[in-house]
Amino acid sequence: MPGHIPVLKNEVADLLNITGEGIFFDGTVGLAGHSSAILNANSTNYLYGADKDSEAIEFAKKNLEPFYGRFTLFHSDFRNIKNLLPPKVIAKIDGFLFDLGVSSFQLDNPDKGFAYAQDSPLDMRMDKNQSLSAFEVVNHYSHDQLSDIFKRYGELDNPARIVDQIVFHRKTKKIENTGELKTIIRRVAPQQKTMDPLARIFQAIRIEVNGELTGLEDFFDDLFNMMKPGARVVVISFHSLEDRIVKSALKDAREKGIMEILTSKPITAQDNEVKMNPRSRSAKLRAGERRNCLLLAAKVPAGHPKKAKGREVND
Ligand SMILES: C[S@@+](CC[C@H](N)C(=O)[O-])C[C@H]1O[C@@H](n2cnc3c(N)ncnc32)[C@H](O)[C@@H]1O
Repeated sequence: MPGHIPVLKNEVADLLNITGEGIFFDGTVGLAGHSSAILNANSTNYLYGADKDSEAIEFAKKNLEPFYGRFTLFHSDFRNIKNLLPPKVIAKIDGFLFDLGVSSFQLDNPDKGFAYAQDSPLDMRMDKNQSLSAFEVVNHYSHDQLSDIFKRYGELDNPARIVDQIVFHRKTKKIENTGELKTIIRRVAPQQKTMDPLARIFQAIRIEVNGELTGLEDFFDDLFNMMKPGARVVVISFHSLEDRIVKSALKDAREKGIMEILTSKPITAQDNEVKMNPRSRSAKLRAGERRNCLLLAAKVPAGHPKKAKGREVND
């Protein structure tokens, strides 16, 4: 059975109050590390889980066998939550978890083509049913399209030389695997200690292939509105682009008086966790709790400036 060590497991458990009886939604089940902790914490807990990766769902099913009858798994993007669960079920959920990005199982699996540490076909699809793969992006995107995603998702200021090299190479032969792409990039972008350009390019292609940031802010916006008062949401992100979206969605919802932010600063892994699981180094956890808007509306008189702004009711 492939492995993945769940990050910030204790922090997630505390923030989602998993020892109390509850219904939970894990939007990124992966190999069910967090999901099994949720189901293990209280014998009456129920879990809905989703993952885009059908293989992950199969492994999760096996890992959750001891909790048979207390979970439902969906092979789906969590952004489809409204098609997976009726609003009245969403409104009963006590805790939502999103542990974004890819799992160790995906990164370490050469067939999936996520990592440049091993040579594998350019793929990077979490969901094998979709047609867009890393091969398409690298071989068929125009010079401008590649520059754009390397700037936006790889946060490279000037990717022109890298894009030139890719475009030059693919004129004579399609770039088919991660090893070839790595060699091409390395010719013009030598290794750097922090945020190596190679890592940035691979990150950018992965985000593009899986549409990882598309509609994410709107999704959270929508979700916060559907949550019941007191329900909590925990989001773990692994790069600044994702974290910025989560931070902004929570901040907007706080300003509208919908959510309370439970993490004034993102929670990061302690040294001992990083030592045991180096992938936890870049994890940032943010959490929020749905506020009781009816109660707030009753407290604040109509026409009061605090009501119009909707944020000071927090104090
Ligand atoms: C970091 S792993 C989660 C690991 C999991 N928490 C565990 O403990 O095993 C991220 C998982 O989320 C899935 N994923 C990423 N974005 C997704 C999305 N938008 N919808 C559904 N699943 C997604 C990936 O396929 C991957 O399996």
